[in-house]
Amino acid sequence: MKEKYYITTPIYYPSAEFHIGHCYTTIIADAIARYKRLSGFDVFFQTGTDEHGLKIENKAKEAGVTPKEYVDKIIENAKDLWSRLNISYDFFIRTTDDFHVKKVQEIFKKLYDQGDIYKGEYKGLYCVPCESFWTETQLVDGKCPDCGRDVSEVTEEAYFFKLSKYQKKLEEYYETHPDFIEPVSRKNEMLNNFIRPGLEDLCVSRTSFKWGIPVTFDEKHVIYVWIDALTNYITSLGYPDITPEFKKYWPADLHLVGKEIVRFHTIIWPAILMALDLPLPKQVFGHGWLIIDGGKISKSLGNYKDPREYIDSYGVDAVRYFALREVPFGSDGTFSEKALITRTNADLCNILGNLVSRTIQMGIKYFDGNVKNPEIYDTIDSDLLEPLKDLKVNVDKKMSELKINEALDCIFDILRKCNKYIDDTTPWVLAKDEENKDRLETVIYNLLNAIHKCALLLQAFIPDTADKILASLKVNNRSFENFADKIILYELGNEKPANLFERIKED
Ligand code: MSP
Repeated sequence: MKEKYYITTPIYYPSAEFHIGHCYTTIIADAIARYKRLSGFDVFFQTGTDEHGLKIENKAKEAGVTPKEYVDKIIENAKDLWSRLNISYDFFIRTTDDFHVKKVQEIFKKLYDQGDIYKGEYKGLYCVPCESFWTETQLVDGKCPDCGRDVSEVTEEAYFFKLSKYQKKLEEYYETHPDFIEPVSRKNEMLNNFIRPGLEDLCVSRTSFKWGIPVTFDEKHVIYVWIDALTNYITSLGYPDITPEFKKYWPADLHLVGKEIVRFHTIIWPAILMALDLPLPKQVFGHGWLIIDGGKISKSLGNYKDPREYIDSYGVDAVRYFALREVPFGSDGTFSEKALITRTNADLCNILGNLVSRTIQMGIKYFDGNVKNPEIYDTIDSDLLEPLKDLKVNVDKKMSELKINEALDCIFDILRKCNKYIDDTTPWVLAKDEENKDRLETVIYNLLNAIHKCALLLQAFIPDTADKILASLKVNNRSFENFADKIILYELGNEKPANLFERIKED
């Protein structure tokens, strides 16, 4: 039986249209999911939308529509965006889905019945745009630490989750599961800034707005944010029913989240799971932000374009490649259209596209498109063939460490070596002398073989481009199980290959 792998993105707020920051997390999750599938895992990849709350209620009011009408339109666009980005999710959950609503109500009631949720009174400082409550000490210059706007004091009757009860257990869990939070700096931040100073119980219901899941036993309350949002990762599998899907996929192997919601995923979510007596996800990875002009790309600040414009201008794989390659995964990085163009020209056009088209053209010109391996080797070949032997092991290792940009760098290093190999072996000189025919064929074969192996791996990252390359090499076995396969004869046909990437003008 195949080993399972369950990976999630955060469920995004459909309070405004999605931007390149949402694409960033989703593209990375997609590349990991594809890599695992190609490696033979039974993958479940989930994304979705977090649709309740005051902010969306207010936005809908401004737009003169119901909250459901408001989010429906944004979600239609989001799904179109994911399809155009080739996001291979297995399930898209919406927190307004009937099944989710019912299951959240059951979970809330269960936690209440067992004493983990109780009724109290909430007094706090609230930031409306971020839908977050803050303590005095968390404010920066008296303002919301996330968006810098004013907060207001609010008092109301509310239900609370006994988060404080889980402080010790969480600390112990972190100690006994050193890989639970990555990168490790985020784990230290959680311990030092939140857990050790003491956890307060968490407000989990509101009476001041209506757009949320009602508490079944006290209808003036709606469930506030986290018990609704975080449980998406298990309601989709059927929980509280212990379904075959739940048994198979839970616990999740990886929750990918932006750094600003690491706290919710590594403190609140584990505490809820502990209260439900369920196993915890194996890992939460908190990645950095893509920033624009030195600041966060933000729906509230409105400083972004519809990512579909970048896809239209530069192609889906240019956008995917940029997200995966540009920034070391975990750190913040800058997004700009200029950087996207530079990266596309330098790597996709110059290193990959030119190599593939040059090599195929030589295969057609010198061998009528049928290239086998006469095995006339030269010492120079080892500069390419030796590193190629280690490629798969190296990329596997980088992917298991979630060093996505470094995984791509291993592949592009081989492609760079291919270009150098062409310069060093000078096939056009070999072609002048019929005596060198077998040596020339060995050179072209080695290049095709290296491109073939790189394209197999690239399927996880830039699937359209990888498919085109594998199709032109007539490679049908594309799972990683076939990675070591030797192709006896590459049949390229005799049509000049179309350019994979056109050079983009830098102005
Ligand atoms: N709804 C909550 C998450 C609930 S998960 C149970 C939420 N939604 S959000 O719409 O604000 O999306 C947050 C996520 O989008 C971030 O955690 C991150 O993964 C992604 N990003 C949003 N802006 C981003 C950048 N500028 N850069 C990188 N990722 C960004 O929080």
